[in-house]
Amino acid sequence: MLHSKHFAVAAALFALMFIGMAATRPPDDRAKNLKVLPKDISHEDLDKIMDSWKAALGVKCGFCHAPSADSTSHHLDFASDAKPEKNIARHMYKMTGRINKKFFSFNKDDKGNMLPTITCMTCHRGNPHPDEVK
Ligand code: HEC
Ligand code: HEC
Repeated sequence: MLHSKHFAVAAALFALMFIGMAATRPPDDRAKNLKVLPKDISHEDLDKIMDSWKAALGVKCGFCHAPSADSTSHHLDFASDAKPEKNIARHMYKMTGRINKKFFSFNKDDKGNMLPTITCMTCHRGNPHPDEVK
């Protein structure tokens, strides 16, 4: 009897925990403001791309992403377009895609998928300003 009571309490606590988790999680975990990347991109793929851009330019996430409008939060507001660098990056992404398509479309894997020959790294090489001679 005591045993099953404990079980019921534990089960109720568990249920509350899950309801709590569901309530605190944003209704939609997916990116809200994608204009050049596929809207249904997985969280994992988005992370990979963001990491590669960060490395290619030798910057931190905050180079393109504005701080949260809530000054008590130390997080970045990833969906915001307030920093001009973010829009330049979109432009660069489209340009890079066009260069590959137009000039390197012969570069395909054995399934016929185009391989991205030119990447952000090709020009940037860890520098946000590849046009500035060092
Ligand atoms: C070179 C600029 C740049 C850097 C550096 C960068 N991002 Fe982004 N990020 C973008 C752009 C541009 C988009 C929007 C892409 C689009 O419009 O499809 C984006 C979108 C996102 C989104 C989706 C936001 C939404 O809800 O729409 C997340 C999350 C994100 N970035 C996280 C990161 C993280 C984490 C880092 C650091 C590891 C990072 N970004 C570094 C340019 C950048
Ligand atoms: C063909 C060469 C080339 C490629 C490929 C390229 N960039 Fe650029 N990028 C440049 C040049 C050159 C500049 C400087 C332009 C200027 O200052 O007028 C620049 C500037 C930028 C800036 C603005 C930096 C600032 O402080 O104003 C961002 C952001 C950027 N690139 C992101 C990217 C991302 C992300 C990619 C890959 C998706 C990429 N670039 C691919 C050549 C390139």
